[in-house]
Amino acid sequence: MFDSGTTCLVVVGAQWGDEGKGKLVDVLAERADLVVRYQGGANAGHTVVIGDSQFILRQIPSGILHPRVTCIIGNGVVLDPETFFTELDALDARGIGTAGRIYVSDRAHLVLPYHKLLDAASEKSQAIGTTGRGIGPAYEAKTGRRGIRVGDLRQLDCTRRLLVERVDFANRMLELLGSAERASLEEHLALLERLAPRLLPISADTGLLVYRAVAARRRVLLEGAQGALLDVDHGTYPYVTSSNTTAGGASVGAGIGPTAIDGVLGVVKAYTTRVGNGPLPTEAPEDEAAQLRELGGEFGAVTGRPRRCGWFDATVVRYAVRVNGLTGLAVTKLDVLDTFAEIPVGTSYQLDGASCDELPAEVDALSRVRPSFEVLDGWRASTAGARRLADLPRAARVYLDRLEALSGAPIRYISVGTRRDQIIEV
Ligand code: IMP
Repeated sequence: MFDSGTTCLVVVGAQWGDEGKGKLVDVLAERADLVVRYQGGANAGHTVVIGDSQFILRQIPSGILHPRVTCIIGNGVVLDPETFFTELDALDARGIGTAGRIYVSDRAHLVLPYHKLLDAASEKSQAIGTTGRGIGPAYEAKTGRRGIRVGDLRQLDCTRRLLVERVDFANRMLELLGSAERASLEEHLALLERLAPRLLPISADTGLLVYRAVAARRRVLLEGAQGALLDVDHGTYPYVTSSNTTAGGASVGAGIGPTAIDGVLGVVKAYTTRVGNGPLPTEAPEDEAAQLRELGGEFGAVTGRPRRCGWFDATVVRYAVRVNGLTGLAVTKLDVLDTFAEIPVGTSYQLDGASCDELPAEVDALSRVRPSFEVLDGWRASTAGARRLADLPRAARVYLDRLEALSGAPIRYISVGTRRDQIIEV
């Protein structure tokens, strides 16, 4: 979608995450100068397959796999420094040099070990099914004005004093939550001492870097994590993550004004998955779900948890088109449906006996909706080798046309396999 009219493009998930954004970003990053992560943290798991190698990136933008691209971790991200450096070292060990082309916002908040302890303790009572990466507690601390930011490492003396208060607060919270765990001040102090000399040289006012790139009409790709239905405002609250995963979050989390953005690509699977708890209206019966899970390799990239599987839910995607202002869709994993004789598509909902075209706000109502399904013919042929629309079986094209009509945004990409080249640009 990068062309003369679009130089600053957001890529977001338009379902519950795991839509295949990593692959799309990887394909688009070939034409980008800058790739920016703007929200979430090490809860994301972007999988990219290059040749025989598989890369799973949690904290670093997938754009890093292109040697020409500069990568930025924006202010809206919560940075898990240990995961970040482990990934950097692993990339370097695999010959993917990162020196001089990765910057971290000095305004990004740090995810520290006590956030992970708090995440685990909260899960005992809330049962959201989080990734356990400390994401919620880190964002809570940010809005509660108790966070520690990357830039704070510049004044290590003050930050040490701050840390004493933070660790004490975390330990009181752990006690309140009934956890026997306690955070160690010494461990946290040592971590910050270790981090500062590595993190500070690559920390920057990254909003300025993005602003300058946009002003120079360089190609900027804003890489979203998770999906619209996990957005803290627009998702299936409270079964959501703690950041704004929708396109509005890209402006805030990258530190640029919304007028800088001129395209938003929403990534959807040709069916639907969800990890963790919360409503999933088009969830398939277990025999069908197991088939989708097996064929699609639907196991969490971060936690390894089996994903819940169901059919394409057009009500969800229409909603995602609206709340993100999507200008295009990328449909991924079409090949996973290759063997099905019939493929149901959820077109709208019934709620308490009345038809319902929009997503209800309350989780309770969303748990009661019954999807109305339309059943389309399968194509029962491999799509893995298709590189143009015309290469697809007729029934697959009918299926995609129907998804497009029901969703209300044009399909711009179709992915038919995990490899970089298995993509159709429409
Ligand atoms: P958290 O982001 O770890 O707090 O988890 C909150 C919810 O978001 C849980 O249901 C997670 O399974 C889900 N979640 C977080 N990150 C991802 C992701 O990258 N893909 C899919 N689900 C995610």
